[in-house]
Amino acid sequence: MAAPRDPARRALRADLLDFSADPGLGTPTLAAVRYRPDHWLLIDGGRIAGVLPGTQGPGDDWQREEHRGRLLLPGLIDTHVHSVQLDVIASYGSELLEWLERYTFPAETRHADAAHARAQADAFADALLAHGTTAAVVFPSVHAASVDALFGAARARGMRLVAGKVLMDRHAPEALRDDVARAQRDSEALIARWHGTDRLAYAVTPRFAATSTPDQLAMAGALLQRHPGLYMQTHVAENRAEVAWIAALFPQARSYLDVYHRHGLLNERAVLAHGIWLDDTDRRVLADTGAQIAHSPSSNLFLGSGLFDWQAMADVGAAVSLASDVGGGTSLSMLRTMADAYRVQALRGVRLSAFKALHTATLGAARALRLDHEIGSLEPGRSADVAVWDWAVGAVAASRDALARDLHERLFAWMMLGDERNLVTTLVAGGTQYKRRSDDSGALERVHGAAAAA
Ligand code: GUN
Ligand code: ZN
Repeated sequence: MAAPRDPARRALRADLLDFSADPGLGTPTLAAVRYRPDHWLLIDGGRIAGVLPGTQGPGDDWQREEHRGRLLLPGLIDTHVHSVQLDVIASYGSELLEWLERYTFPAETRHADAAHARAQADAFADALLAHGTTAAVVFPSVHAASVDALFGAARARGMRLVAGKVLMDRHAPEALRDDVARAQRDSEALIARWHGTDRLAYAVTPRFAATSTPDQLAMAGALLQRHPGLYMQTHVAENRAEVAWIAALFPQARSYLDVYHRHGLLNERAVLAHGIWLDDTDRRVLADTGAQIAHSPSSNLFLGSGLFDWQAMADVGAAVSLASDVGGGTSLSMLRTMADAYRVQALRGVRLSAFKALHTATLGAARALRLDHEIGSLEPGRSADVAVWDWAVGAVAASRDALARDLHERLFAWMMLGDERNLVTTLVAGGTQYKRRSDDSGALERVHGAAAAA
């Protein structure tokens, strides 16, 4: 990856969109949406400095970049994704537990090799940026080398990243198992090396309750006690067979979530993927502790895990963010993720507006991660982590876009029909980290035209 040199002061002209509040589930209203069509976003020294109307360009000491007619958003936030599962995407034919054994554990075993881990971590970080994602909460593997590789890749690109060594001391192949003492030693060393370095934060990462002994979960809880400010990430209540297994392994716990609660793992920096098979008591515990569910609709549909009850979470005020969960999910695109979230809610009879979905992938996630002072919006002072998107790519999307009667209709069509091909450029802390090679938005028509002319 070349490190492009950008001037300290740059101004991007586009349709700026971000949020000032949570639009809520239900009927779309403009109250929480800040839409500034044809404006300049001013970036100074890596931070957002302000906004000017398109017709009042900034002075000559700003580098001006025209993206008129395009959409400029805060960088998207993926709150649950596995950097070591790129090879696992689109693996056929199984539900969670068999999928882990058959595909996922073998792929993760290869990350014991530091050279492989580095190559994959670089590919992963570049792929996030090429999907407009500038911040993520990430599972590497059980190997310390995979954690170093991932943090190193994120640091080289200036990204905001939360990650930590996966803890697994049972019910996994031997090559992927640690033990309590070694896991503690490795975790302490990694925390010292990475937590608070640049834009990186450490997450204590028990994979899920099945793969950690009670002793290891207690060690994880003690790490959180010892180091205030650490994150915690894990999986919870994803699949019915998994839930039954956890109940058998932890007969004294009230529920799957309660296993984590008992071990002191739930707090306002806890990110738990899935949460499909929770009950109301669990949801109240999430709300009370400030922990969030990273809803992963692509993965839930692909692995046949179930339909997440977003409304029930909203009813008790528990936080929900959105996540690709690659490799259970089939795309790193947060547009695809939002579109899948819409479909999951449609099957539950709930309408997820484009405003709510996009808020969840930006300011909502930033707030749930306690990072809204830094990311998630275009407020002056925030890190200039932004992405510029084509409203539409291809003839069908372009004509649908032209027919949209209001902002919500337009944004909804963008979210349902768009993907990473709509992405023009991604900036992290004001520096260009991804740029589409060519403007290929008309490629289909051109090929078709050439064929017709021949
Ligand atoms: N539960 C435990 N490990 C995993 C994983 O890697 N992916 C998903 N989707 N669920 C899990
Ligand atoms: Zn996962």
